[in-house]
Amino acid sequence: MEHTAVLIPGDGIGPEVTGAAVRILEASGAQIQWEEHQAGLAAVEAGSEVVLPPSTMEAVQRHRVALKGPCTTPIGEGFTSVNVALRKRLDLFGAVRPVRSIEGVTTRFSEPGVDIVVVRENTEGLYSGIENVITPGVVTSLKVVTEKASRRIAKFAFHYAATRGRRRITVLHKANIMKQGDGLFIRCAREEFEPWKDKLEYEELIIDAGCMRIVQQPERFDILLCENLYGDVVSDLCAGLVGGLGMTPGANFGGDEAAIFEAVHGSAPDIAGKNLANPLAIIMSSVMMLRHMADTCEDDSCQTAADRIRDAYNACLLAGEKTRDLGGSLGTTAFADAVIARL
Ligand code: NAI
Repeated sequence: MEHTAVLIPGDGIGPEVTGAAVRILEASGAQIQWEEHQAGLAAVEAGSEVVLPPSTMEAVQRHRVALKGPCTTPIGEGFTSVNVALRKRLDLFGAVRPVRSIEGVTTRFSEPGVDIVVVRENTEGLYSGIENVITPGVVTSLKVVTEKASRRIAKFAFHYAATRGRRRITVLHKANIMKQGDGLFIRCAREEFEPWKDKLEYEELIIDAGCMRIVQQPERFDILLCENLYGDVVSDLCAGLVGGLGMTPGANFGGDEAAIFEAVHGSAPDIAGKNLANPLAIIMSSVMMLRHMADTCEDDSCQTAADRIRDAYNACLLAGEKTRDLGGSLGTTAFADAVIARL
């Protein structure tokens, strides 16, 4: 069955890694019709006055699924993040970031291995972008926590856990200090857990102690449920346990079945255009996209293509066919070629 998806190459290493992923998807037999649109600096360079052109938004709204490269956001000044804008406007409230140890990529955490999924609330918290200069030298950044968003991300996390064969949810919070904001978040999680209590396990950990435990005993964690900022930080921490940003995929899910699949890493301007970037994270994100498409696919072509791509990159890594960030010697295109050869 043919599916249509929006392709947003993005900035920096974005075109290189999304290009590799598209070639691999094609070679896998997945039937995807791409509609390419720009966002980020790439959109401005292509003549748009804004970093998120209305045509890009409209395409994602129409097709409900996109594969997206990273977009550059200036620090401390300039335009607001394309990613934050996309997540807010499409109401992509749930970010899912799986991190797994893979044979062939040895880290100090490979034994006994890591298999964690970070579920991050994506629309509010400190990322609401409400900041005020009260007086020169004094700034407030508002952390917004609503019952609606806290309940829906908790519901999403429990449903995700139950449908993916996962068992234990750990909520990371700082409700000892932010008694109202994080307090509301965990109260909602506790209440939403009620219907699941015979199927799943639930625990709460204060974020700082939680980070220490994740590093000391990563194998005891299964799903981490976090508000926005904690989820952002913790997903990079978890990426570090398995080999870095080069192999951490992600998906952003919305209420109306819209979903954007993208790697956790950024546009990596230091290596952009040098054929050095590891495309694995966006390839893994493509596999997540295929599994999402499989829910509405009339045949098993999406699942089959997803399994084939996963088996192919696993075989590559096991054989030492890796990019430099993982200790190998392959460039972006050579790694994609290696995966295609194994397909
Ligand atoms: P970054 O993830 O782009 O880079 C951090 C380090 O990891 C760099 O040394 C980079 O070379 C390396 N790295 C990242 N991805 C890699 C890959 N696939 N293969 C090999 N090495 C890789 O983070 P940074 O430098 O903080 O951000 C750069 C820009 O990206 C910023 O403008 C930031 O706002 C943006 N960004 C965009 C995201 C998105 O669009 N989803 C997510 C994170 C950052």
